[in-house]
Amino acid sequence: MAKDTVILTGDRPTGRLHIGHYVGSLKRRVELQNEGDFKQMFVFIADAQALTDNIDNPEKVRQNVIEVALDYLAVGLDPSKITIFIQSQIPELCELSFYFMDLVTVSRLQRNPTVKTEIGMRGFESSIPVGFFTYPISQAADITAFRATTVPAGEDQRPMIEQATEIVRRFNYIYGDTLVEPQIMLPQNAVCCRLPGTDGKAKMSKSLGNCIYLSDDAKTVKQSVMSMYTDPTHIHVDDPGHLEGNTVFTYLDAFCRPEHFGLYWPDYANLDEVKEHYQRGGLGDMKVKKFLNNILQEELEPIRQRRAEFAQDIPAVYAMLRRGCEQAREVAAQTLSDVRRAMKINYFDDADLIKEQAARFAQK
Ligand code: TRP
Repeated sequence: MAKDTVILTGDRPTGRLHIGHYVGSLKRRVELQNEGDFKQMFVFIADAQALTDNIDNPEKVRQNVIEVALDYLAVGLDPSKITIFIQSQIPELCELSFYFMDLVTVSRLQRNPTVKTEIGMRGFESSIPVGFFTYPISQAADITAFRATTVPAGEDQRPMIEQATEIVRRFNYIYGDTLVEPQIMLPQNAVCCRLPGTDGKAKMSKSLGNCIYLSDDAKTVKQSVMSMYTDPTHIHVDDPGHLEGNTVFTYLDAFCRPEHFGLYWPDYANLDEVKEHYQRGGLGDMKVKKFLNNILQEELEPIRQRRAEFAQDIPAVYAMLRRGCEQAREVAAQTLSDVRRAMKINYFDDADLIKEQAARFAQK
């Protein structure tokens, strides 16, 4: 990365953030932030995008804006180093989306794999809200308004970045070089791409009740770990155990570090030894779960504490968000000014245009 890197990423505020978000993206964002190897870094709460499929539930979105902001601060995102803002407070994004709509065809949107799956998941079928259908366009505006070069996101967001790239190319081709092409930055580690739910289902989801939230207290985390899905054929301690689809081991792959053995389980030197013993038979689920619980508690305790501290001064959190929105707006406004000039719709700040037109009409 270089000093002209602009990093941007966001989350829909439809729930508190969970440890899947943490290993999949939040942790990396904090690292990127602290490495400081960028020109600007933006992290935003995509409330307008959340409304595209929660239009009748504005209260849910509103409540989760502050929850997500607290989660951000809790994991260590730092508004003195990066800009944290709320999408709906940047009207320039609507304007840019409106112009982008002319650069994308309906059939191209219909082919967007993420939109396709999501339409299926939400059961919209033929009654898809236009705003939902076109959210890839609005997401392209989110990215390009801030001249983002680098978008840390999961594989599921790749079609969104591709769509944004196409829009940038088409815009620049028609109107001249104005916008910056973004690139996706995928998670480095495969197990971190998608942490399964505690019930072993593919994804953590609020509606399935299989999440461990960053804000869960120690007791709740412990309960979730102790009731976690493992290997249904591993009935007696002596039975050989299986690792595939075994949630406890997937979580260990994501969270366990060498020093955890000395601290919490000196009987083993590393995770491979534990796995071997488990597969051989003779290692009970409870012991593995206890180990995982210790690891998760260690990781989550400081996050929980910071969250509680920030939660004591909610007005300060809103003030932080407000400053972030102001900073973000300045950047977006500059881009929009360039966009309007490129599109020849900057009538009032183009003195030459007025002079030229005056001359043209004087000749008539
Ligand atoms: N679609 C993203 C998600 O569901 C959220 C998002 C909105 C986003 N705008 C973005 C992510 C721009 C990266 C860049 O997680």
